[in-house]
Amino acid sequence: MAVTELFKPLTLSHGPEMRNRFVLAPLTNQQSARDGSASTFDLDWIGQLAQGDYALIQTCAATVEAGGIAFDRQLGIHSDSHLAGLTKMADVIREGGGLSTVQLHHAGHRARRELGGIPAPASGSTVPGVKALTTEEVELVRDSFIEAAQRAERAGFDGVSVHGAFGWILSEFMSPLLNDRTDKYGGSTENRARLTLEVIEGIRRACGPDFQIGWRLSVERYGLLLEELRDITAEILDRELIDYLDLALWDSAQTVQEGTFAGQTLLSVFTDLPRKGVRVGAAGKIMSAQRAGQLLEEGCDFVVIGRAGILQRDFPRQVQKNPQYESPKLPVTAQYLRAGGLSERFINYLQGWQTFVY
Ligand SMILES: Cc1cc2nc3c(=O)[nH]c(=O)nc-3n(C[C@H](O)[C@H](O)[C@H](O)COP(=O)(O)O)c2cc1C
Repeated sequence: MAVTELFKPLTLSHGPEMRNRFVLAPLTNQQSARDGSASTFDLDWIGQLAQGDYALIQTCAATVEAGGIAFDRQLGIHSDSHLAGLTKMADVIREGGGLSTVQLHHAGHRARRELGGIPAPASGSTVPGVKALTTEEVELVRDSFIEAAQRAERAGFDGVSVHGAFGWILSEFMSPLLNDRTDKYGGSTENRARLTLEVIEGIRRACGPDFQIGWRLSVERYGLLLEELRDITAEILDRELIDYLDLALWDSAQTVQEGTFAGQTLLSVFTDLPRKGVRVGAAGKIMSAQRAGQLLEEGCDFVVIGRAGILQRDFPRQVQKNPQYESPKLPVTAQYLRAGGLSERFINYLQGWQTFVY
């Protein structure tokens, strides 16, 4: 498929359309103030991206509760005190012409005590000495997601993306390995998916008719079962509970090794599902114009750009200028990132990533 297809607009079930098919992945950058307020570094970074011609810009993972923190200098959306900074972020994105969304995050059992986090496991056997959340506490977490979405709306964001990936709380509850509960949030597939569904449905009820809801899903590790996640996704798509599904793959070309779908690409397990009005996209090593175009052929409505977007903030514009565009190869030098406008805080964080910085 021609790379030009990537520049066709895409309507969503709620609110304004995407102007093209490029979505920026949520990218933690550890440069907020220690209370979670957006800093000038956050604004600089989001400002660079905002000018890059993306259809939709997702913020980094933002804490829906102070106790749900996973990263030092993580962006927060758990208090009204965060509204001023968030409003500036939403404004900066709007000025660039893209849609904006806050990624809503709670670290669950992996909340970091040294940062003020309070581990909140689904099961009593995950973190030594820490009891599983009670049913009432789970409902409070659900409500925190919903309140955070309302805050995002007040700050002027077009929507939120619900973080259901990488073993964080919603993905933790989905996992039969990490969730051994006997209440309505554990046991059957339906019960383990309940928290995610209640969060999504609660946001839809609490926010306005134009508010956009994305759901980020990863399907590997943490004891997650592909067949089960496919069924849950099928229901969410069939009921059109979200505007878009963001498949958080590490390699969009990866194939399934075992089970019902062995030999297929992981992506196709989800793009084969009937999706009604829901849009489906994926991340995972999209490092060239050609690969981005190919993903539309493979059934994606949009592509989600992570590392290539850090290396070149205006990836969509580069693709438009050059259909043969290739992202710089990793690793890169700190000086390369500095020259591109990244802050020392962000560069320090990237130095902790395998194969990012020399
Ligand atoms: C520096 C960095 C920070 C990330 N932070 C987040 C995050 O806050 N939330 C999230 O869901 N994924 C996060 N991810 C994963 C990316 O969103 C993306 O799914 C992944 O990098 C694969 O896409 P890519 O191959 O284009 O980089 C992060 C990845 C990187 C490299």
